[in-house]
Parts: sequence; C-alpha cells; structure tokens
Amino acid sequence: MCHFRLETRFNAAATREDTGLEMTLHNLSDRPLAGARLGFSAQTRIADDAVLRGADLSLRTASYHEFAMPEGMSVPPGGIWHFGFTGVALHIPKHRCDGPKSAVLHLNGQALPVSVGDLARDGETGTGARKTLPDAPPDLPLFLQPWPAEAAIAAWGPTTHLAPADDTDPDDRAALANVAALHGRLFPDHTNPLRLDTAATRIRFTRTDRIEPEAFSLDFDGAEVTLGFADTAGRLHGLIALAQIAHAAFAAPDLFRFPVAGHIADAPRFGYRAAHLDVSRHFWTVDQVRRLLDCMAWARMNRFQWHLTDDEGWRIEIDAYPELTDIGAVRGPGCALVGQLGHIDRPYAGHYTKDQIRAVVAHAAGLGIEVIPEIDIPGHATAVLAALPHLADPDEPADSYRSVQGFPNNALNPGIPETYKFIETVMAEVADLFPARWIHVGADEVPDGAWLRSPRVQVLMQREGLQGTAQIQSHFLRRVQRILRGLGRELAGWDEVAHGGGVDQSGTLLIAWQKPELVRGLTELGYQVVASPGQAYYLDMVQADGWEEPGASWAGTVTPERCYAFDPEGGLAEAERGALAGVQACIWCEHILTPEVFNHMVFPRLYAVAEAGWTPQPARDWQRFAALTRYMPQL
Ligand code: ACM
Repeated sequence: MCHFRLETRFNAAATREDTGLEMTLHNLSDRPLAGARLGFSAQTRIADDAVLRGADLSLRTASYHEFAMPEGMSVPPGGIWHFGFTGVALHIPKHRCDGPKSAVLHLNGQALPVSVGDLARDGETGTGARKTLPDAPPDLPLFLQPWPAEAAIAAWGPTTHLAPADDTDPDDRAALANVAALHGRLFPDHTNPLRLDTAATRIRFTRTDRIEPEAFSLDFDGAEVTLGFADTAGRLHGLIALAQIAHAAFAAPDLFRFPVAGHIADAPRFGYRAAHLDVSRHFWTVDQVRRLLDCMAWARMNRFQWHLTDDEGWRIEIDAYPELTDIGAVRGPGCALVGQLGHIDRPYAGHYTKDQIRAVVAHAAGLGIEVIPEIDIPGHATAVLAALPHLADPDEPADSYRSVQGFPNNALNPGIPETYKFIETVMAEVADLFPARWIHVGADEVPDGAWLRSPRVQVLMQREGLQGTAQIQSHFLRRVQRILRGLGRELAGWDEVAHGGGVDQSGTLLIAWQKPELVRGLTELGYQVVASPGQAYYLDMVQADGWEEPGASWAGTVTPERCYAFDPEGGLAEAERGALAGVQACIWCEHILTPEVFNHMVFPRLYAVAEAGWTPQPARDWQRFAALTRYMPQL
C-alpha cells in the first residue's frame, strides 16, 4: 500500500499568469513527515517567474518538478502538506490529466511511491462532453474496414468458413495460413474463418496482371470465391478482406452475412498508410508492438514509423555505444536522466535488443508492413547527451535554450566533429537492422535560438556563412542526408526538415504534422509528403471537450468524427491531387501510459486514418465507419 497521496486543484483561471495549482500531499503513513522533497511530473509546468507558497522549488527539468518542505514543518500521520503556485509555462490545464502524472517522495535518501489523483478544478460540475460514437446499425450486411472502392453484392448466403480450392499452389496456401494465424492472434475468442481444409466455401487464387499492385478483386459465386491479385500485397489484402467479411458474419450474425453472388474491386487510395508509435515517453513491449502491427495489418496499413528515441529515453541497442541504453534508456531516481511522465518513483527503463528488433521487422514484413525507424536528431536528444556527454559543447552556457517540452540544451551540436561520427556509426547499425528505404531522422522542434551561444557552432556559422538556427539545421541535415545515402538510404523527417533551405528533395519524405496546409507547400517544394496533421491525425489529442477526457489539446479536440472527416487532399487543387504520398496516424505517449488509455485514444481513430489512406474519398461514410469499427481489434 502507498503511504502518500497527492491531490491537485486548478483555480480555473483563464490566463497563464493567473493560473494557480494547489497541491495537497496526504500523509497516510503512521509517522510524522519532515524534511522531505516531493517530485512530480506534470505537463502543466511551473513558469520561471511563478509565485510559490508553502514549498521551495528545488529542481525543475521539463515535466519534472521537485519541491522541498519548508524548514521546521512536520506533517503528522493523517495530516497534509499544502503548497501551491501561481503562474505556469505554456499550457493552461484543459483536462484532468494536465496535472501530475506520477510523483515520488524523497525522504532520508529513499525514493518512496506517491499515488496521484486527477487534477480537480474549481467550480467543476459534471464531466462535460465525453468521446462518443453513433450507435446505429450498418445499412448493409457487408463488413469491410477500410471500405472497398467498389462493392456490388447481389445475394447473401450462410455464415461460412473458407479454405483454398484443392488445386491451390503451396505459396497461396502459405499466404492463407499466414492470415489465419493473424486472425488467431487478433481474435482468439472467436472461431477462425480461415482453414486449410474442411470448409464450405473455397477460395480460388487467380494471379492476373490486369490488377494494380496492392489491389485485389473478389468474385462470389455460390460456394466459391475467386481472389484476383497481381502481387503479394494484393493477395494479402484480399485474404484479410475475406477473413474480415467471414469473421463479422460469425461474430455478429444478426448484422453481417457472407456474399454468395457479387463482386468487390479494391485498391488503395495512397501507397503510404502509416502509424507511428512513441516508445520513448512510454515503453511498449515487443508483444504490444507486434499486436499493434497485427491491428494495422487488419486495416491494410503498410508503414510503421517506430519512434525509438527522444529526450525521455533511447530505446534501441547500438553495439558501438552501450551507454545509449545503459544510461540513456533509464530515467528516475539516481539516474542520469531525470524521471518524466509516468512511474517517476523508480528507475523506469526499456529498450529493444537487436534480436527483438529483427523479430519485429520480420513480423511486420510478413504482414506487408515496412518498419521505418526514427532516430530523432538533432533535437529531442537529452537521452543521447546524458549518455554521451562528450557530444555537448563544453563552452555552451547551461540552459541557453529550452525545447517546447522544457528540456534545456537538448540538441546534438552541429559544430562538433564527434556528432557526425556518432551519426555515421548509429545510422550504419540502424541501416543494418531495418531494410526500409527511409530512415526517419526527426528534425522536429529544435527551438529557435538553439546553438547560437555555442562557440563551436559560432565557428561553423562563420565558416559556412550560416545565419540562425534553421540554416544551421539545414546544413546539419544535408550532412546527415549524405551519410544516409552512403548507406543506400533516403532521409525521412518531420516537416521542419524543409526549414532554413531544407535538404535535397529527391527521394526525401516529409511527414507534415504542424498543420494541414503544410502538405501543399511541401509538395510544391518537391518533397514527397505524408499528411499527419496534429489537428486530425494525432491520436494523443483529446476526443471531447470535457474536463474528464484524457489526452493533450494543443492541436484542439480531435473527435473520432473530426479525425474521420479530414480529407488529406482537401487543401490541394484538382491538378495537385496525386502529389500526396499518403497518411499517418501518430501515437505520442506522454499521456498514453497504459493499454486501457491506449485503446481509448487509438481506437477507432487509427482505423479512421487507415480508411482515409485506403478508401476513395467519395466512398467514405462516417456513419458506416462508426457502425463497423466496433468489430475491429484493439491492443
Ligand atoms: C512532433 O510532433 N514533434 C513531430
């Protein structure tokens, strides 16, 4: 049992300066409490000029805050230590999870756990709007998500298992067994609709070059279905489509049926249909990552951007630099990295070994998903710099700039030769693990003004005639691009790659996240672009305005309907359509610390993005999507 409990109250002020948080630490132990320091991690950060009452601020790094009890204070068993402050940096609380996420009590050299309540709010009444989905039943008994480009079903038959026709070749049988295994992992509590034998309906596999790559057709004729396809991906998608139709007919026979006459012709709207997962802020196990890949495959998504590094932790084994995971993958009491977000009462660690990564990449490949590793540089590098302090300019003043998340001096230094040696070494090992064409190098959120007080960068600026942070970043990224090309890879990054002159556009892929309008500007510059606007496709955003709803809100409220309704080509003129490579859902994990919250936040919005990536815009329908999506798998 936890002997301490932290409750927090927000004064509901409307400005950052007036925003006040009142903290109450309840001593539930049987001893008086004195001489302690309370640490907590909260997205609502105390500002530099905040006014403090009842405690002294002893440390603050990004979301981590530590307060010391006043001299001479002693809190008896059952008593409270009350303190507060007025004035926050950046975020005024909008939701219950904007307060402390986790806390720790430092007492007599020990780190003691503290349980944490939701952020309460003065004058609160009720919960406010919650995430909702319409619950009308579907109009048609056909289950497919994403919805197909073309479906004309003339007759429905009995619920049926499916098996390959007797003369099916071994390769097609193996493909069917692969999808049967996928169904078995996703829905172990349901009958598996796919079998290798003993089934009423037979699948006839027909390879044809009259079909585009990734596309497939299904022709239903009594107890036989003909699956037409041109390539492995098309066959996989067609088999998953059949498995979906039959699964739903078994799972909800009052709503869904299996066709016995009719035709489906299907092809993706975009070639790039991605999900991203942040494993730095919260570490997800290999099994959880595999399960997400299974869910993605079920929705015909084909790219996974694995966000393996960030300020809060480096999560990929690199042989040349064991410090990256020995030091850079662990945060909390006694560690080089200060605790952040969840679980700050103990060292919080996690990384993937090379063998685990190879297994995940192989698992994904078997599902038609390419894994794109993200090594986030030059910014978001606190974990790297904690592990490898020789990469910092020793003459750069401490705290000479801070990232938007509040990390001081958190970018790799472009003026230090060792920086490039580090990147060459790491990227060579990364390229060895991931066969994908692109390596994603982040490039997001380097704060304006970064590096300008670093003497080594000043030398670089003079030598290269660079002005300002953006031009320095462009110079740095061009070098990184040359390193990647030397490894036979192309550069991918967030939209800030284009800042300050950008990089060579040829082969470069940018994920446009800051706002929808960026898609147009970046395609005009000649980049390949994937739409992932925070305002629609960031799955960590709240899904309703109510105080009780979990999530972040800097990009607004992203209801499932708003996510679904976003047209990724909406900002492009008719002639420009076709310039967009695809779409990506982003799963940032500052707020997503448990599978329960993951499921609440990620579904059904992940499948809304999948459908935007697959289904032609005129064939999309929110009511139908909402009716079907409850039968899709979760983590
Ligand atoms: C990002 O959200 N910083 C790409």
